[in-house]
Amino acid sequence: MTRIAIFASGSGSNAQNINEYFKDNSDVSISLILANKSDAYVLERAKNMNIPSFVFSNKELQNTTIVLEKLQEFDIDFIVLAGFLLKVPSNLISAYSNKIVNIHPALLPKFGGKGMYGMHVHQAVVDNKEKETGITIHYVNENYDEGQIIFQDKFKVVENDNADDVASKIHELEYEHFPRVIGEVAEGL
Ligand code: GRF
Repeated sequence: MTRIAIFASGSGSNAQNINEYFKDNSDVSISLILANKSDAYVLERAKNMNIPSFVFSNKELQNTTIVLEKLQEFDIDFIVLAGFLLKVPSNLISAYSNKIVNIHPALLPKFGGKGMYGMHVHQAVVDNKEKETGITIHYVNENYDEGQIIFQDKFKVVENDNADDVASKIHELEYEHFPRVIGEVAEGL
């Protein structure tokens, strides 16, 4: 059984979608949901899905081992970042080498890096008059959005698409691909 922890900072719609995908899969369990904000809606979703959750501050994440200890307490094998906005500290990177994946709402290396998240990304795509955009699923290393790319999918950005239109098309791709790709890289660990 591969035990997965999902880190999120906000709504958690990807976290919910991932849990639904694996709920009848006896080889994979979403065993813990972690957030860096006590008011993140993902915690509400965790409660509704009966998944244990853990809240930490960025200070605790960067300066202590309490997050790593919590992951070990729950025998976590694999980490998924789904809308998680903080940099992953080296103690987690080394403990989970090549076992942390992230989803970015653009075609990295375009529109990646610190501060490029959520609507900031979609607005930048529209402002740059990009002809296409999409999602990137990648391994996580110590720098934002720089790990080895695992999967990308894209769509054409049409003339009158605004940032909200791009955001909803991006979410569709995320819900379609992220759980399957996680299964491909995490299963059987
Ligand atoms: C997603 O668009 C993801 O690509 C980005 O943050 C967003 C998270 O949305 N990293 P949600 O919290 O899963 O609804």
